[in-house]
Amino acid sequence: MAQAGQAPQSWWPEVAAQWPEAERALLAKLTPERLPGHVAIIMDGNGRWARQRGFLDRIRGHEAGIDSVREATRTCAQLRLKALTLYAFSKENWRRPEREVAALMALLTRFLVGERPELMENNVRLRAIGAPGELPVGALRALDETIRLTAANSGLILNLALSYGGRDEIVRAARGLAELVRAGQLDPARIDEAAFDRQLDTAGLPEPDLLVRTSGELRVSNFLLWQIAYAEIHVAPVLWPDFRRVHLLEALLDYQRRERRYGGVGDTTPPTHGK
Ligand code: FPP
Repeated sequence: MAQAGQAPQSWWPEVAAQWPEAERALLAKLTPERLPGHVAIIMDGNGRWARQRGFLDRIRGHEAGIDSVREATRTCAQLRLKALTLYAFSKENWRRPEREVAALMALLTRFLVGERPELMENNVRLRAIGAPGELPVGALRALDETIRLTAANSGLILNLALSYGGRDEIVRAARGLAELVRAGQLDPARIDEAAFDRQLDTAGLPEPDLLVRTSGELRVSNFLLWQIAYAEIHVAPVLWPDFRRVHLLEALLDYQRRERRYGGVGDTTPPTHGK
């Protein structure tokens, strides 16, 4: 893999050389300098994937989804994106049958331990948003340990949304600001978008430029509600376990075809909102 700091053009062909012809052709259509910095994905369709294949257990779909997680992460790392945020477990997901929740937690734990060599090899740094403290202790320990082990990696940030809800995150951010005001450390008149940003779980990350949702559904599902204000949305028809590198490349191409105006006319610079 190319070294950090190289100009994009110098590593672009090297990445392509490792891929099959069809994917190299898609890659050739992309402009390296205009790739999104941060991609966020709503991984949807695991249950339908399992049903379509005649599996009685939905968890078979979640298991198959791990391969898609690995491939998306590796591809984003190879393309030198800054961050990939995956909606791995929502606040609402706790309402699923106990057996499915337990299986998802076991799968997450296995992933967090088993993927360590892969994350290290690809220079990926793990991070989490949401309320990971609500996870069972085994999953939480595996998460903390993988975050610790990958902390010095300088490539892609893989950001897992765990027990995550966008409204919950906004409420917690508001509470954080209120605490600062109560402690006399913040003047309410100085609360602006940048101050709010700093209270979010995603503080320090660039905003997602591209939001991908699989399985053809046209919903945001309480994901990164604040952060996706200016994100381009790409809906992939395939179910998450079928989502391969080719689909991610198609999403990136779709993104590059869009004209991002941020509410202006002809102006393609994002508003700073005091940041
Ligand atoms: C949505 O499919 C997917 C989820 C609720 C969980 C996503 C989890 C994984 C891909 C595996 C674990 C992830 C990591 C990062 C270890 P669904 O069950 O809602 O599918 P359906 O809409 O077809 O029923």
